Amino acid sequence: MKHLAIASDHAGYELKNKITAFLLQEGWQVEDMGPNNSESVDYPDFGVKLAEAVAQGKVERGIAICGTGIGMSIVVNRFRGVRGTLCADLYTARLCREHNDSNILILGSRVVGEGLAQEIVHTWLATQFEGGRHQRRLDKINKIQGIIEYKGEV
Ligand code: RB5
Repeated sequence: MKHLAIASDHAGYELKNKITAFLLQEGWQVEDMGPNNSESVDYPDFGVKLAEAVAQGKVERGIAICGTGIGMSIVVNRFRGVRGTLCADLYTARLCREHNDSNILILGSRVVGEGLAQEIVHTWLATQFEGGRHQRRLDKINKIQGIIEYKGEV
């Protein structure tokens, strides 16, 4: 599915537009959940919209951007089934997919430049979840969140 959602706050607004342009160029269908200008806003308002869309299965994956990425990380990971991962390098961009099946990528626009952000997005989108022992660990996270009935021990 080449469909994902993106959201930011004012600090991430410019990078959101650049990443959106990159994704469209790569053939992705992008749902921009705002904001639509750089006026000061509160990151929870936009993080919630994105996390809800992923938690409800409206989109498979999303990208959230604020100044540090920390505010968005705190917000999106409160939602069931969301595995939001803050990445500022290519190693974690790859490993958060292989091991953690990340479904929201979080970027800090004041931490990474446009070029690195674009490569992080590319790596994150191109990398598959490895499953196996990593699925067992995700099952335990799902149990904590009450998503699935879990018969083993945590
Ligand atoms: C906004 O100034 C800034 O606090 C926000 O973008 C984010 O970095 C919060 O975690």
